This record gives sequence, C-alpha cells and structure tokens, in this order.
Amino acid sequence: MTDNGKVQKKIEHLREQINHHNYRYYVLDSPEISDAEYDGLMRELQNLEAEHPEFLIPDSPTQRVGAPPVEEFGVVEHPVPLLSLGNAFNSDELRAWYNRVVRMLGHEDFDLVCELKMDGLAVALIYEDGVLTTGATRGDGYNGENITQNLKTIRSIPLRVNSNALRRFEVRGEVYLSKKGFEDVNKEREERGEQVFANPRNAAAGSVRQLDSRVTARRPLDIFIYGLGYAEGSVPDTHWETMEYLKSLGFKTNPNNAPVSTLSEADNYYQRWIEDREQLPYEADGVVMKVNQFALQRGLGFVGREPRWAIACKFPAVQATTKLVDIGINVGRTGSINPYAILEPVTVGGAVIRRAALHNDEDIHRKDIRIGDTVVVQRAGDVIPEVVSPVTSARTGEEKVFSMPSHCPVCESELVRPEEEVMLRCPNAACPAQVYELLKHFVSRGAMDIDQIGEKLAAALLDAGLVNDVADLYSLKHEDLLKLERMGDKSASNVLESIEKSKERPLSRVIFALGIRYIGSEMADILEGEFGSMDSLMKATVDDLLAISGIGPKAAKSVVNFFSQERNCQIVEKLRKAELKLESEAEETQELPLAGQEIVITGKLETITREQAEEKVKELGGKAGSSVTKKTTYLVAGADPGSKLDKAQSLGTNILSEEEFLQLVGMSGQG
Ligand code: IVH
Repeated sequence: MTDNGKVQKKIEHLREQINHHNYRYYVLDSPEISDAEYDGLMRELQNLEAEHPEFLIPDSPTQRVGAPPVEEFGVVEHPVPLLSLGNAFNSDELRAWYNRVVRMLGHEDFDLVCELKMDGLAVALIYEDGVLTTGATRGDGYNGENITQNLKTIRSIPLRVNSNALRRFEVRGEVYLSKKGFEDVNKEREERGEQVFANPRNAAAGSVRQLDSRVTARRPLDIFIYGLGYAEGSVPDTHWETMEYLKSLGFKTNPNNAPVSTLSEADNYYQRWIEDREQLPYEADGVVMKVNQFALQRGLGFVGREPRWAIACKFPAVQATTKLVDIGINVGRTGSINPYAILEPVTVGGAVIRRAALHNDEDIHRKDIRIGDTVVVQRAGDVIPEVVSPVTSARTGEEKVFSMPSHCPVCESELVRPEEEVMLRCPNAACPAQVYELLKHFVSRGAMDIDQIGEKLAAALLDAGLVNDVADLYSLKHEDLLKLERMGDKSASNVLESIEKSKERPLSRVIFALGIRYIGSEMADILEGEFGSMDSLMKATVDDLLAISGIGPKAAKSVVNFFSQERNCQIVEKLRKAELKLESEAEETQELPLAGQEIVITGKLETITREQAEEKVKELGGKAGSSVTKKTTYLVAGADPGSKLDKAQSLGTNILSEEEFLQLVGMSGQG
C-alpha cells in the first residue's frame, strides 16, 4: 500500500472509532472511553486531516463545529410534506379518536405506538448513500429552511449511517434543549446582560435558526427522532419496527416510547405522563398515539393536513384563571424594581401558585393588567409562573390601574429609570433590600462560599444591625452572634470559621462577590486576569475595559459606575483591612502568574499548536492537565471541543476561547 493509502486507512479507522464513541456518549449516554482518550483520537484525526486536506470529507466528525455565518437560509422542498397532528385534550377525546379508527377500519386488529410529544422544533434530515446531506426546518410543511450546518453541530445526529437497505431517506424528529441546558444558556445570557429566552422551546428554536452555526454549536441541543418520511428502498411494515431500525442505525429515539395493543393501555400511558411529566429532564407538551401498521395508516389517510392514524393527546392546561389581589414590589440585588402578582391561590398543572411574575410596568400596561382583575396565569415546566393576560369580560369596574411607585418601597429613595432601560431602579446601594440580596449573593457558592450563612441568618444579621454591608461580615465577633436567636456557641464558631475560610478566595471571586451588575463569574475571571489587582480594576476607565475581549459596553460602564460610588470603595477598603485577596495570587507572592492553576486545552487551536500552548502554561507556572476535573481552573476550548467542553460545563469550570487564553498568557496580538 502507498503511504497515502495508509494515511487514508488510518483516517477512516479514526473516524469510525470516533463515531462509535460519539454514539456511546451522546446517544446511549454510556461512554466506553475516558474524555482524554476521546480527545486524543479527535486530535489525531484533526492533525491528519490538516496534513492531508485531500481526505477531508463533510461528514468527518471533525466537522461539527459550525461554519462561518450565512446571510440567509436556503429553501428545502420536503419530498413528503411534514404534516401536523389533530389534538385530544382528555381521555374522552382519545377514546373518540380510537373509536373512529376502529369504525373506519372495521376491526380492532391493530396496535398503537405511544410516544412523548416533545416541545421543540420539528426538523427533517436527508441521508443519501448513508451521508447526512440536508437538514431542514418544517417551515410551512412543504418548504423549510436549509439549516444543515446548524444541525450538524448536534452530536446526537449521526453524520453518516450504515443504511444498506435505504439509498436515500429522510428522518424526522424534534430538536430540543433540556431544562438544564435551557437554564445554562439563560444564565450565560443574563451574565452578559442579554435578553433571556422565555422557555426551552424558544431557546431551541432560536439556537437552531442561528445564521452563525458556531453559535448553535455552543448550545447543548439534542434530538429525538420520531419518524421516517421519504424513503427509497425497503422499509419495515410497522412504525415501531421502523423506529427500532432507525435506532439500530444510530439515531436517538425516545426510550419512553412504547407499543401497546389496547385503548386502555394507551390511556394509561397518557395518564402516567400527565403525572410524571415534571420528572422529565426536558419539556414535553403531550403524548402522541400512532397506529402501528403502515398498511392501516394508508387506509385511514388524512383529513386536511392531519393524519387520521395519529393523534396528539395534550397535557392538561398549565394555565388557569384567578384573581389578581395586588401587585407587590421586590427590590433586586442591583436595585431593580420588580413588580410581581399576588394571586388568590390557584392550582396550575398540579402546583399551587400564589405569586407570578409581571416583568415590568411597561408589560403590565401593554397587557392592560389591573389590580382586582381576573387574570390568566401560566406555568411552563419549571419556569416561574407568569400572568399572561386579564380576562376583560370579567371586569366589574372596580379594578384599579396600577402605577409604579415613585419611591423605593423599602428605603424610600426616589426611583430612577436609566436610559434605554425598561426597569426602574432604586439608586441607593445601602437600601436594606439591596443589601439583603447582595449579602445572599456574596456568601453564595460561586462567590465567597460562606456556607454557614443561609438566607435566614443573612436576614437576622441585617435585622439585628450586626451587618450593614457585606464587608461587615469580617468584623463579626463571637459575642455578637450569640445575641441572635437560636445561635449557640458551637454554631457561632462554625459561622466565624466559615467566614474566616472565605478570606482565601482568589481575587476573581471577590470581584464576582461584589455583585457588580453584568459581572458574572466568567467576566470576573477575565477582570482578574487583565488587571491583577482590585486597585487597578478600580482605576480602569470605560475604554480600558472595552479593550478587553469578552467585555461589552454595558459591563464596562457598570464597573466604572460601581467604583465611582463612595460606598462601594469603602466596602473594598474594609475588605482590604480584613485581609481578603485583592491582588492576584501570583503578583502578591511574586510567583508565576499561573501558579496553582490547572489548564486543560481541548479542540483545535488556530494560532498556536497545542504543544506551544501547553508549554506556555508551564512556563507561567501552571499545570497543563489532560482531563477536566474539579481542580481544573480553565478549559481552553478550541474548534470542535468535544466531550471535555460538556464536562467543563457540567462542572461549572471556567471556559476560555483561544483568544481569551492568549490574553491570559499574554500572547494576544501575536502570530
Ligand atoms: S408525529 C403526521 N411524533 O408535534 C405526524 N410529532 O403537530 C407528524 N412532535 O411539529 C408528527 N413529538 O414536530 C410526532 N413523537 C412525536 C412528536 C411530534 C413532537 C411535534 C412535531 C410537529 C408537531 C405535530
């Protein structure tokens, strides 16, 4: 064999191995090798492909990182239209549907397949000679948008399958974000000061329809395949066997789906998921029943765009109506004034709701929600319940139009509305409500991690006047604590010990703990890396801050504004006296800047090789790790980061882009 022939064989072998491990990890959730081994294979393949671009193919597992943005999506005509489903809203309607099927078929000799109805976004995937060639949205059912690049970034979608029986075929499924994935995405957006998504469905749809597929690649999207559309070749006789076949090809199907043979079994399935839906790690909005035999499906046909052989049984409304008793005001950590609804208690989707979000006054007036109104409230999965609209027909004339207070309900400062913002704010940083929220944030796990102080103790410390700002924690004395109710000798010592221990937290944690608006933990890390000490950060100008990659105008202004306030500077001074770390470890001890830090590099770097990067880390006193653990300080994610990125995200490890890494090690602007 020629040398090139050997390389090609090696590349093919690597791709097979990686695809297999990808499948074990993302589809079966049961990996066979460690992250480090997986990354090793991936790296080897990337290197070979870089050296031999003639062997690079679009379905190589290295190609899941997304491509440069497009102006707009192309159009894909669906070979077989994507239809919708008729709805049943309760067991009676399910029975009516079933009876109609029996009547039309003239017998009861059929099975049903029960599936969860995922609340995501319908997509169609076309495979030709085993290779994923096109992925599209449902669109109007006949024409969808070409989102192939975006769908290729979803790891549970196979880029290649071994489908000898089918030359060309199309599978359909629902792309979704898990509840956890949704929270993570929103948390990140919140930290960046971006608008959060209202629910997992919107977040999934927004992610899939990104013009820049590199953005999609960073969202933890997943898919369940629920059907075969167009197919050239031989297909099993039933839906269930088809799904089993697709599963054997490597597609991810929902393990909660089940074949049944009677109406009562189908109804049990429906009732069971009405009960258990909250336990699912993703959102489902109902179940779908499908006649299993394809021959019978053909006989039943369609009414309009809905098949007679299938029905969606919706979960009971998560909406309810109740009375809006009053509108309360909550003051947030950074002084945001948040109105909320005080409701007559009502059960929505199995939980009793007494309060609901109202967002802001603009929203209240746009929806014309008045105090005393009967209102529709809604609960979507685990999301905070919200008031959707008033029932205007139920008005008596007694309802009162709400107006926001002009002064803070807690400290009575006059409220301000910063330019271009919808939220009113209390400008008084010493406002007890703000101090309370800030204190809770300061002691929280990601911040100073003072685990002996919970919500109750925080409130008690403020009420007793022992603490007026977060820095006062460090001057608390044993005898002070003993004055508090239910505080014994032992607990007081524990509290003080836990406060004492927090003095060891690095500068970035202190920066984060200060609760500066728009400065999340990642941003705080960047700030520590850039400025090295609290003093330099306090002197930074908006321009200095804007020069840092990862820091936008809102965050930059917020930092400068924070340190322009006398009160905040005094807090920092108190923290200094208490001997918190206001300098980066390295500078303080004249040690190397990355001393004590462990950095793991994954994926392909663009401007330097991995070896160079690891060299640099060691040169600066850090350790270059091979797998992500709790000890990892940073994960540097290059292109196609693989499973380490997931691991890092699940551990909450700080993740750096190549650019951010270069800045950290002082190599930016080079090469
Ligand atoms: S079958 C002709 N099965 O629900 C049958 N649909 O109105 C076509 N959906 O947008 C659909 N989970 O994306 C089917 N297990 C499931 C589903 C499912 C979610 C969505 C589908 C479509 C809508 C149907």
